[in-house]
Amino acid sequence: MCEGAQDLTDAASCSGRLVGVALAASRLSEESYVEAAREFNAATAENEMKWGSNEPSPGRFNFAAGDVIADFARDNGMELKGHALVWHNQLPGWVSSLDSAEAVRAAMLDHIRGVMEHYRGRVRAWDVVNEAWNDDGSALRDSVFYRHLGAGYIDEAFIAAREADPEAKLYYNDFDGEDLSMKSNAIYEMVRGMLDRGVPIDGVGLQMHVRIPDDEPAIAELTQNMQRIADLGLDVVVSELDVRHCNGETAEQQAARYHDVVATCLGQPRCPEITVWGITDRYSWLNAAGAPGCPDGETPHPLLWDNDYQKKPAYDAFMAALLGP
Ligand code: XIL
Repeated sequence: MCEGAQDLTDAASCSGRLVGVALAASRLSEESYVEAAREFNAATAENEMKWGSNEPSPGRFNFAAGDVIADFARDNGMELKGHALVWHNQLPGWVSSLDSAEAVRAAMLDHIRGVMEHYRGRVRAWDVVNEAWNDDGSALRDSVFYRHLGAGYIDEAFIAAREADPEAKLYYNDFDGEDLSMKSNAIYEMVRGMLDRGVPIDGVGLQMHVRIPDDEPAIAELTQNMQRIADLGLDVVVSELDVRHCNGETAEQQAARYHDVVATCLGQPRCPEITVWGITDRYSWLNAAGAPGCPDGETPHPLLWDNDYQKKPAYDAFMAALLGP
C-alpha cells in the first residue's frame, strides 16, 4: 500500500491515521470538490454542527445541514468528527442573552444532549468545548458560559457529553496552543486538572491555523507539547490545519511546513488524526475579512489544492509525510 501510493487515500491508509478534512455542505454539489473530499478518510463539518446551525432557537433542533455532512462521511467510508458543542462563536443570540446560571446550564446541557443523541453511533469524537481560553491564554474567556457558571462549566459539559454518547471520544479544542506558551500551559493544566477530578476527557485538539515561519509553532516545541499531553494518557490531534502563505514566501516553504507538522503527528503514537481546514484555497475561511489571514491583507492560499483544484506542492509534501521517511 505504501509503495506506489497514488493519492491521499492510499497515503492515509498506509499511515494508519485519520486524515480528515473540514467540509461545507453547500459545496458538495461541485464535482471537483467531491472528488478531492473523497481522498480523505475522515470529515468534520466546517459549520453545520455548530450551535447556531443546529439549535437556532431554544429546543428547536435542525440537523438538516449537519446530516448532509454525516451522510457524505458515511457514504464515503469516512470517520466523522463532531464540531463543536460549547463555543462562544456562532452561538445564537438567544443563548448569549440568557441571564441566569440556571438558564445557561439548562441550555448548555440540553444542547449537548440533543445534538449528541442525534448523532450517537456516528461520531468518532466530539469537540465538546472549543476555545475556552482567551487569545493569549491568560484567563478563561468571558463567554456567557463562564460568566454564569464559572470555570466549572467545562467539567459540566464533558460529564454531560459522556452520558449522552458514551462511545464518542471527547476532545477539548483550541488555537494557538501548539507550541510551549502561556496558552498551551493553561490548556495542559486545565486538562490535567480535569483528569485529576475524574472528568471524562479523551483528548486535546490543536487547531493549528499556522504560518510558514518555523517558529510559529516551532516543531521542537510542538513535539514536546504533544508529548506532555500524550503522557497524560490523552489523544492529541491536529484538528484544523492550514498554513498561511504570506509575505512573498514560496509554495515550497509552505509544503515544507505541512510536511513538518504532519511528520510530527506521525511521530506521536497518540496523535490519531490530522484534519485540514478545507480543500481548495478558493473557499478557505482565511479569505474572509476579519479572519487571521496575512498581515498585509494578501490572500493566504493556505490549503492543499489551489483555486482551480490543482494539487499544490503542499499536497505532495502532506502525502510524503504520511508515507513516512
Ligand atoms: C470557521 C469556518 O471555517 C468559517 O466558515 C466560519 O465563518 C467561521 O468559523 N476555529 C474553529 C472553527 O474552531 O470552527 C472555525 O471555523 C475556525 C477557527
